[in-house]
Amino acid sequence: MLTLLRYGWRVARGSTVIVVALAVADAVAQALFTLTIGLVVAAVPAFLAGVTDRSAMVALFAAFAALFLLTKVLPPLQAASAHRLGNVAGLDVYLRMAGPMAGGARVAHVEDSVVLDQAERAAGTGGYQITWSLGQVPNLLGARLTVLSSAAVLGALTEWWIAAALVVLVLAAERWRVRFVRDEVAAWATSTESERKALYPFELALGDAPTELRVFGLKDWLVRRYLRFWTSAMDELWRSRRRGYLLGSAPLVLSVLVNAGAVAWVIVAAQSGRLGLAAVASSITAILAISGSGTPEIAALVARGVAAYRAMMELPAVIAERHPHPAGPAADLGRAPARQIRLERVGFRYPGSDRDVFTDLDLEIGAGEALGLVGVNGAGKTTLTKLIAGIYPPTSGRVLVDGVDLATLGPDDLARWQRQVAPIIQEFARYPLSLDDNVALGARRPLTDADRARIAERSGVADLLPDLAQGWDTVLDKEWTGGTDLSAGQWQRVALARALFAVDCGAKLLILDEPAAALDVRAEARLVDQYLNLTAGITSMIISHRFSVVRDADRICVLDGGRIVESGTHPELIMLGGRYATMFGLQAARYTSGPVNGSGDE
Ligand SMILES: Nc1ncnc2c1ncn2[C@@H]1O[C@H](COP(=O)(O)OP(=O)(O)OP(=O)(O)O)[C@@H](O)[C@H]1O
Ligand SMILES: [Mg+2]
Repeated sequence: MLTLLRYGWRVARGSTVIVVALAVADAVAQALFTLTIGLVVAAVPAFLAGVTDRSAMVALFAAFAALFLLTKVLPPLQAASAHRLGNVAGLDVYLRMAGPMAGGARVAHVEDSVVLDQAERAAGTGGYQITWSLGQVPNLLGARLTVLSSAAVLGALTEWWIAAALVVLVLAAERWRVRFVRDEVAAWATSTESERKALYPFELALGDAPTELRVFGLKDWLVRRYLRFWTSAMDELWRSRRRGYLLGSAPLVLSVLVNAGAVAWVIVAAQSGRLGLAAVASSITAILAISGSGTPEIAALVARGVAAYRAMMELPAVIAERHPHPAGPAADLGRAPARQIRLERVGFRYPGSDRDVFTDLDLEIGAGEALGLVGVNGAGKTTLTKLIAGIYPPTSGRVLVDGVDLATLGPDDLARWQRQVAPIIQEFARYPLSLDDNVALGARRPLTDADRARIAERSGVADLLPDLAQGWDTVLDKEWTGGTDLSAGQWQRVALARALFAVDCGAKLLILDEPAAALDVRAEARLVDQYLNLTAGITSMIISHRFSVVRDADRICVLDGGRIVESGTHPELIMLGGRYATMFGLQAARYTSGPVNGSGDE
């Protein structure tokens, strides 16, 4: 509980102070109420006998009513302040998760199952959320303070050892219950991969692939898959939880006996005249308050949140340890490439993979050069763009930008280089934002009217504008009011617009990975016509299986077997009569005379 209170203090000082102050006030009110009950009970016979006068009785009753009211008003206030604390903490949890996961200049950590499991534990799927537990902290704190204040009343009225015994019993019962939560947390920690597997069909069922889901009739498969993984994730956890609920509640029997003993002691003391009526009433109320404040289940909830909290706080260290990215010597690539990008004997294999994508790859791209890159599916074209953008460091060899080895750059310098890259990623993101935001995202300034006119014309977005009800402000997502969705080719134009605007805003390397895959013939022809104009004055890489798109590049490289096997202009490569010429011939023949016999991946 103290761990979560300290966390609350860090994220929402005001709310935490209010939570603690209300818990203290509640405990004090509870103790005074306990005493007042005794006084009221004792005063009634005296009042009936005419010993106590009316005004004293009214004052006593008013105090009783006020304290009663207070004990009813304080809990909802506590709940409200706990709720507020939970809300603020919810934001903080998001930032602490998104920071390490979405941060850094590289991506290997978000593909690492150990990191993903740690993040899953931090997110608290399966009932371990920090914010839930934080919401329970005021209840637990209030209960603890009430135990102490009621014990003080009981000790003062009866014997201190009785009060101490009851307090020890309550705390021991809580500790005993929390012990089982630790086993449960250990079981939960091993189930996160199954949980992540269950999450996939869950999200798919909620609408991630609505058409395929229906056409292939996947609903039952999804439900079965979800049940299988969720059950397997929860099986061990629930076995452990059941044990916790059953064995963890064992002290209840002892608690009934000890409380009955304490009440019996009070009755015996009353019979022997050692306790008056007021003391008897207050003592029994205090005994009930102490046992009623024993909250093992709340303690269990808080313990679960502490486990998620620890996982969250360890997340950055886990990432740093498994994917270190130390700050290297400072290098400013803020205006690069001014001379060239050079790959020297680059070898690369994806983390966790047993297959090399590149072996001994050498390539130089001069500043201002427009490079075309072709190769069969899986040849490594997209991977090459990731190495150049520094998203992955090579496994061997070096990627140099103006002579600076990207692998030696610290995270901030590498991020500065990445701001120089304007890409159409092959699997580009479709942001559920307005057209305007979709284009301006990632650039350094908002769009002006002149930008919109220019970019719309060059990217082909102009063709789709008449269909957008709110023009550039139309949200490109049907799930939003007034929103709409685009066709694949229309989205591709938006992605091109985004990359072109990033170049307008200063990016120096344009990467177009399959920019024409979904374009219609007219749009592709326009892209080809504009290509030299779009890439004038900057360095660029264009990747496409459509040879018409790459043929105007200053130089074309063929990637095969993990290295560059051919390099030259389109006429040079045709003359060479190698792989490029074969692939080009195959595609051209298909266009001119329909299907041809023979194999070809292009
Ligand atoms: N994140 C990844 N983890 C492990 N292997 C990967 C990953 N991404 C790609 N690969 C593998 O790396 C190889 C190169 O993939 P890449 O995407 O670079 O090919 P490509 O030339 O762009 O192909 P395409 O023409 O289909 O776009 C493939 O064998 C692929 O299976
Ligand atoms: Mg690719």
